[in-house]
Amino acid sequence: MSRFTDQTALITGGTGGLGESHVRAYHAEGAAVVIGSTAGGLARAEALATELGDRALAVRLDVAREDDWAAAVAAAEQLAGRLTILVNNAGVQNPATPIEATDPAVWDRTFAVNVTGQFLGIRAVTPAMRRAGGGVIVNIGSTMAYGGTALYAPYAAAKWAVRGLTLSAALELGRDNIRVNAIHPGVVSTKLINEPATPGGRPIADFYDPRPYAVPRLGEPADVTAALLYLTSGEASFATGAELVLDGGLLLGPALPSGV
Ligand SMILES: NC(=O)c1ccc[n+]([C@@H]2O[C@H](COP(=O)([O-])OP(=O)(O)OC[C@H]3O[C@@H](n4cnc5c(N)ncnc54)[C@H](OP(=O)(O)O)[C@@H]3O)[C@@H](O)[C@H]2O)c1
Repeated sequence: MSRFTDQTALITGGTGGLGESHVRAYHAEGAAVVIGSTAGGLARAEALATELGDRALAVRLDVAREDDWAAAVAAAEQLAGRLTILVNNAGVQNPATPIEATDPAVWDRTFAVNVTGQFLGIRAVTPAMRRAGGGVIVNIGSTMAYGGTALYAPYAAAKWAVRGLTLSAALELGRDNIRVNAIHPGVVSTKLINEPATPGGRPIADFYDPRPYAVPRLGEPADVTAALLYLTSGEASFATGAELVLDGGLLLGPALPSGV
């Protein structure tokens, strides 16, 4: 398949559970892919780029660092001549603690990665997408942006902010032929939910049982990737400011009592 031939996609957090799935799918569908990674994950990103071969490049991209963004955009344009897709996928979750016990540094870091990172990304890619004649940006939010979540206030608040950022950017960039949308996943099986945010803590999977919901399973990265590919394809040319919730019915509330 070649839905994304002549497109270049920059994916932040490109070695994470969701990010790697996105990278592989874009590449398989013909896009050039730039795999953004933290310094710590760079060896994994480089191995993935090597495995994919042509049209793949790993770059160090700490999304909270403006200079990393400038270098990543330049690398994307060098790789394939133009940058047309940005997936603001990188994210961190706070350790599960009540607000009272939450270190303000955790609050700041959660916002720096999950919100400021996306803001810096939109800011950095806008001139490159204009040069390319247009583009598509997808911000990854969360169903936690649709309510409150005990013990996850920094993450929930940051994901609420992603919604405001997405809708504002969609309004500002429409005339530049740049569409901006968001995907809000429910609980998807990756290390974000299966491993604690800090050693000795409890993973979010400990607090979640999918059985009462309309689709009684965890999400898989491929569920999110399929929606992402649609939103960034030409088939979605009328979609901007869209917020796609992919949660198996979590936000609807329980369909049945637990275990039924
Ligand atoms: N899994 C879910 O249930 C779920 C639900 C709703 C929303 N989401 C969102 O989906 C996105 C991907 O999550 P995931 O489940 O794939 O989690 P993951 O497996 O933990 O991956 C997160 C990725 O973000 C990267 N990252 C962390 N800090 C970064 C920084 N400062 N700069 C650049 N990259 C950074 C990580 O890199 P390192 O590994 O090198 O640290 C990793 O590649 C996140 O925005 C998350 O909030 C996930």
